[in-house]
Amino acid sequence: MIYHEAIVVGGGLAGLRAAIELNRHNVKAAVISKVHPLRSHSVAAQGGINAPLGNHPRGVHDTWEKHAFDTVKGSDYLADQDAVIRMVKDAANRIYEMEHWGCPFSRTIEGKIAQRPFGGAGFPRACYAADKAGHVLLHTLYQQIIQFKQTSEREEMVIYEEWMVVELVVEDGVCVGVIALDIMGGRLEAFQAGIVIFATGGAGRIYGSSTNALINTGMGMAVPYWAGVPLKDMEFIQFHPTTLLGKNILITEGCRGEGGFLLNNKGERFLAKYSDSKKDMEVAPRDIIARNIVREIMTGGGFDNSYVHLDLRHLGEEKILQRLPGIRDICREFAGVDPAADLIPIQPGQHYTMGGIDCNTEGETGVKGFYAAGEAACVSVHGANRLGGNSLLDTIVFGAIAGGNAARYVQGVGGKKGENALKDALKRAEQRVDAVCKSEGNEVPADIKVALNKVMDTKVGIFRDASKLKEAITEIKVLQDKYKRIKLNYTGKRVNLSLEWALELKGSLDVAEAVVAGALAREESRGSHFRIDFPKRDDAVWLKHTVAYFTPEGARLDYKPVHIGPFEPKERKY
Ligand code: FUM
Repeated sequence: MIYHEAIVVGGGLAGLRAAIELNRHNVKAAVISKVHPLRSHSVAAQGGINAPLGNHPRGVHDTWEKHAFDTVKGSDYLADQDAVIRMVKDAANRIYEMEHWGCPFSRTIEGKIAQRPFGGAGFPRACYAADKAGHVLLHTLYQQIIQFKQTSEREEMVIYEEWMVVELVVEDGVCVGVIALDIMGGRLEAFQAGIVIFATGGAGRIYGSSTNALINTGMGMAVPYWAGVPLKDMEFIQFHPTTLLGKNILITEGCRGEGGFLLNNKGERFLAKYSDSKKDMEVAPRDIIARNIVREIMTGGGFDNSYVHLDLRHLGEEKILQRLPGIRDICREFAGVDPAADLIPIQPGQHYTMGGIDCNTEGETGVKGFYAAGEAACVSVHGANRLGGNSLLDTIVFGAIAGGNAARYVQGVGGKKGENALKDALKRAEQRVDAVCKSEGNEVPADIKVALNKVMDTKVGIFRDASKLKEAITEIKVLQDKYKRIKLNYTGKRVNLSLEWALELKGSLDVAEAVVAGALAREESRGSHFRIDFPKRDDAVWLKHTVAYFTPEGARLDYKPVHIGPFEPKERKY
């Protein structure tokens, strides 16, 4: 059995920031990650990270109060306002900390951190590094981690790369560690720890048309869900308005922030036709633009019934090369178009999971010693619709908060716990993995995954209704049943990706079921969750968080109140 004072699961921005905070408190921490940390999905974030720095000429009057208001309004009033205030008040400090750690942000002429407009933000607030914000932030944090590995002043940080956590071990309501699979070696191992933080990212790949990395299967949410930790607000799935046609690679909101236009098949800026986007046009919030793109396509304004155009040509080659070089590369390599000269074919695609592991503003869950942060968590700061640029902020603010709180907790309680529970859990996990390897069924896991993606894409998308959602539940149950009869095409121990994907598939199925259950129950439209059969927001009944508990029969739903603060819920007008 391996012991660390603290274990962080996930090597993306939230995980590394939590690990740094633990280290700062002299807690011996280890990071367990399915991939090398620099391959975490955080690296793919493009457009920027929000903070009310006021560096843009049109942003000088920005304040944390205005950032808070935009975030709460953007969330369609479902965000917990104490959590939002906590995040935005900390934003500037966290950005300057990244700057001092060497993060190469783009600069204004005066040398300040450059900021650009983003959807739903009253001021240009997204601090950017061309179109590679996630890349530079993640590399900056990883450098800090390497420093901890090389200095004798602090405890050494251990990173378990290519290990996948398959079980969270809880004894008498206290987290005592995890069971993880060494993907390279094929062995399961028990990790005993005083605290565990999950920062495993989102569940985007329960959908097929997604900007997310293939690693974002939802397993990081499923593992605590199976251990009794509820998932919150899972029905709120964000669809990014602009993903590259067919491939669904992210085409950053920064393109529109820099002045890009959305055009229909008549070459019109069609957002002007819709009452909720006619004022802010291309920088209206994401949920609104994504819906209006689909409406435009459905009423004949698209191409091939599947896409519209993003036009960056008027920005000019120089600006595109300077501010959106990655977008240019993506367009050239994956669509054969040059944004300086050609229109970009785009369509909405799944992008973010607003819901996640139920935790509070401190990153604490209902299980002592178990914390969550980043997209895997639902604090909730994004409510029913996240504003672009707030997810990266969420990762570094709540990563640091969870790490600090976890450090204080573990230093307070001390000592190793739960050895027998961990040994039992290891045995159970070995039996489970063995059963999956030996299963003599005839179902191909990859086919189940494709079928799940199709159900989610076609029945749990931007526009939802009861009949489609009921079909989705039924179809997921059929897939869960098929999963019991899978057969792996390879059963060896070493680097068995077939086994890894099969284990993750169970997580994807159960998390998807929680999404659909929440969506079916929520008979209103709010933020990203639009019910054709209940097109209005209904605060009298539905101003509450959904909480889903795992049961073998399916998600059991409960609800908890939204923390209202200074901003009274109002009709969300743009
Ligand atoms: O469009 C983007 O660059 C994405 C930003 C975000 O999701 O926050």
